[in-house]
Amino acid sequence: MATFPTLRPRRLRSKKLLRDLVAESQIRKDGLILPIFIKDGIDNPEEIKTMPEVYRYPVNDKLINYIEESLKNGINKFILFGVPKIKDDLATSAMDSDGIIQKTLKLIKNTFGGKVLLITDECTDEYTSHGHCGIVTINGSSYKVDNDESIKLHAKIALSQAKAGADVIAPSSMMDGVVGEIRKTLDENGFQDVPIMAYSSKYASTFYGPFREAAYSKPAFGDRRGYQMDPRNLEEGVREVYLDIEEGADIVMVKPAHTYLDVITRVKQSFPCYPLAAYHVSGEYSMLKAAAINGWIDEKRAVLEVTNAIFRAGADIVITYYANKIIEWLNEGDPF
Ligand code: PBG
Repeated sequence: MATFPTLRPRRLRSKKLLRDLVAESQIRKDGLILPIFIKDGIDNPEEIKTMPEVYRYPVNDKLINYIEESLKNGINKFILFGVPKIKDDLATSAMDSDGIIQKTLKLIKNTFGGKVLLITDECTDEYTSHGHCGIVTINGSSYKVDNDESIKLHAKIALSQAKAGADVIAPSSMMDGVVGEIRKTLDENGFQDVPIMAYSSKYASTFYGPFREAAYSKPAFGDRRGYQMDPRNLEEGVREVYLDIEEGADIVMVKPAHTYLDVITRVKQSFPCYPLAAYHVSGEYSMLKAAAINGWIDEKRAVLEVTNAIFRAGADIVITYYANKIIEWLNEGDPF
């Protein structure tokens, strides 16, 4: 059996071009999606305290400039999060044809048309006074998020987003049956060509903390463990993906990404014929950013290593607040 000194794995590591030649995975630029927060009632971008260098944008030329810059850079796929002025118990402003997301969709589509792909996060937590991902019924001192009433509401919000021009709907509430209900409603209303990117395996993660500050969507009482998944579970994540596929999801998702690489691998192996997205979430972003600001890690190398790891684990698509930076850094030359 041939072994050392005949076999020397280091031979293929000796030069950059050799390493590139045999690299098994890469950051797929076309698979990057940039999240954008849009806030009603402001004139200028506001930096998010818990997410340095990430901003809430107004619905005006400042947003258009940001998208223009991203397009020049090669980022043309965006997932939109609305921060509304008005919240109520039933997330009414989420399905207002003049609501924050609907206004944003119209503005961006009027300006850029088919040059951009606009994905809308479909949820109620930013739009409800209680901050939950559905309709809450209160009974004395306990509360419940009513699944079957909630999915009807989610379908109405999805329809209103599709009418305003969304290219893809991304339901993130983790309600049972929400994907099927949205699919049915879209189909009945002539939107059979609008795909669903389902947040399928979405864990009850502490790493959404900075996002909740960004979108003011922290639950006013209780938490999301009654609908988002238990971080201890892997097989259940596969089951959730299976159910969403059965209900008509076109793209499935694992979220968070960096902390759940095993779930990404497992889902990809179980359903290789479905595009798989992974969300590098706010807390995962902020940890890297905080370490970088303190000079504890090399930001470029860390972000490219982490992002590549998510693709290597099996993701086809990565949603990341670093999307623009990743492209700039890759254009400078990767560090591998
Ligand atoms: C729900 C939603 C959340 C995120 C994406 N969609 C918040 C939550 O479930 O609490 C989190 C994304 C992130 O942390 O970057 N609308």
